[in-house]
Amino acid sequence: MTYTLTTPLYYVNDKPHLGSAYTTLACDALARFQRLKGEQVLFITGCDEHGQKIQRTAEAAGLSPQAHCDAVSAQYRELWQRWQISNDRLIRTTDPRHRRIVEQFFARVEAQGDIVEGRQQGWYCVACEEFKDDPAGAEAPECPIHRRPLEWRDELNLFFRLSRYQQQIEALIAQPGFIQPSSRRNEVENFVRQGLRDFSISRVNLPWGIPVPGHDGHTFYVWFDALLGYITALLEESDSPDLDTALARGWPAAVHVIGKDILRFHAVYWPAMLLSAGLPLPRKVFGHGFLTREGQKMGKSLGNVLDPALLLERCGRDAVRWYLLRDIPFGEDGDFQQQRFTDLVNNDLANTIGNLLNRTSSMARRWFAETVPPAGAAGGHDHPLALAAHQATSTALAALEQLEFRTAAEATLQLAISANGYLNDQAPWSRMKQEGTLEQVAADLYAVLEAARIVALLLAPLLPDLAERMLNQLGQPLPDSNARPADDAATPGADWTARLTWGGLQSGSPLPEPSPVMARLELDEPL
Ligand code: MSP
Repeated sequence: MTYTLTTPLYYVNDKPHLGSAYTTLACDALARFQRLKGEQVLFITGCDEHGQKIQRTAEAAGLSPQAHCDAVSAQYRELWQRWQISNDRLIRTTDPRHRRIVEQFFARVEAQGDIVEGRQQGWYCVACEEFKDDPAGAEAPECPIHRRPLEWRDELNLFFRLSRYQQQIEALIAQPGFIQPSSRRNEVENFVRQGLRDFSISRVNLPWGIPVPGHDGHTFYVWFDALLGYITALLEESDSPDLDTALARGWPAAVHVIGKDILRFHAVYWPAMLLSAGLPLPRKVFGHGFLTREGQKMGKSLGNVLDPALLLERCGRDAVRWYLLRDIPFGEDGDFQQQRFTDLVNNDLANTIGNLLNRTSSMARRWFAETVPPAGAAGGHDHPLALAAHQATSTALAALEQLEFRTAAEATLQLAISANGYLNDQAPWSRMKQEGTLEQVAADLYAVLEAARIVALLLAPLLPDLAERMLNQLGQPLPDSNARPADDAATPGADWTARLTWGGLQSGSPLPEPSPVMARLELDEPL
């Protein structure tokens, strides 16, 4: 079965910021992990290009909406390439094939009797593209997220009969594991408990959208169209735009990874739409937290937005991925602090992990003819570092399965810390000065090199670049966390799990000349 995972489809009203990069980086780590395990992965990202917000932005820039979308979606494409994101698809909702999928889906929902005409009155946030719950009688209410005035709307629209799905949605969200982390479930439960109301799925007088078949003057509400982008994205290049063809490519999704602000759309509206069309439901919706910067919300007006392209250029992939995945529990809010960022990167990656490998392979090369020393007693599974490696591996694998990137990163780091501690305790550099200790020194160095090999393998989904440099330094083959199902190897990373077993390093195999695997991060100015 295909493991389909998705990022949100990003609005193209503005260039990408760190919030979008955060979800995409986390999904990239998850996609790589699943590929390494041997799963057939379909990793979907994309751009959400219709709606009033985009139309207004384009107008303000003096561009046609299409020209504006082309320009911004190209920035997303380029950014993901520069970050070497391993996405299999980048769907754009202005793709003509998407329109066909939306039409077919709508026909199924309409045939169920789930589309009715109605009058929509309420306060609308264009930035959220969402009607807000009654803003407590204020005269000029503001959007609590965007702090901008809401707009009063009163239109005749088409409605989706969400209210019909009350019981099914209640049962769905009660399923453990559907909404994760489970702390986010309450909020959705409260919303559903108040009683689901039908929601409008069309707009009148909004040309920048997909026309609703059979309902002149209506275009689809941007969210109705956008969520279906996950299905259009399943199509292969050569497929005709047919709903069933798309679904057969990898539906249902194993997980939709999203920010907490769009949980309701994914955990309530979207499943109800799918139920209406008679289609399987996604297995999981994971709502991560928001990133702030030095305690403040990132925003253009504050001038403190972190540009992911600049961050990459100045700090490199490994550093940024490590900080975001290792420091912030995925699911909770996180704060980007520059000092902490540099400290973690330098302590964890340059000192603990990088130096461990460097000094150990230097000693091994010097005393054992540039090869991996004989394992001796370190070959056994009861060696203290073998036990530590086993512990780290089982913790990290279980954590990655649950999208607990921080736990996986910490377990991996802990193994490197244990190996450093072991090396310092055994002090092979002192032992070498005594007679008859060569065997012990060999075993100790073997154990530490072997631990470093396992650290590198565990880092492969999180920090593919550093993992590669470490494995090169150990003279080890690289696991391919980016192999596509269509590639020759049927199960691309299948040997990764097997290679995580203690004892994989071959005594006598050559050790290449070491060079630092991780440069220290020196940032003189604020990012
Ligand atoms: N277009 C919709 C999604 C449609 S999915 C079918 C959308 N787009 S968005 O560009 O506004 O937001 C995309 C994602 O970025 C959301 O998951 C949102 O939570 C996330 N983030 C936006 N700002 C963020 C932070 N400051 N921190 C973390 N994530 C944030 O919503």
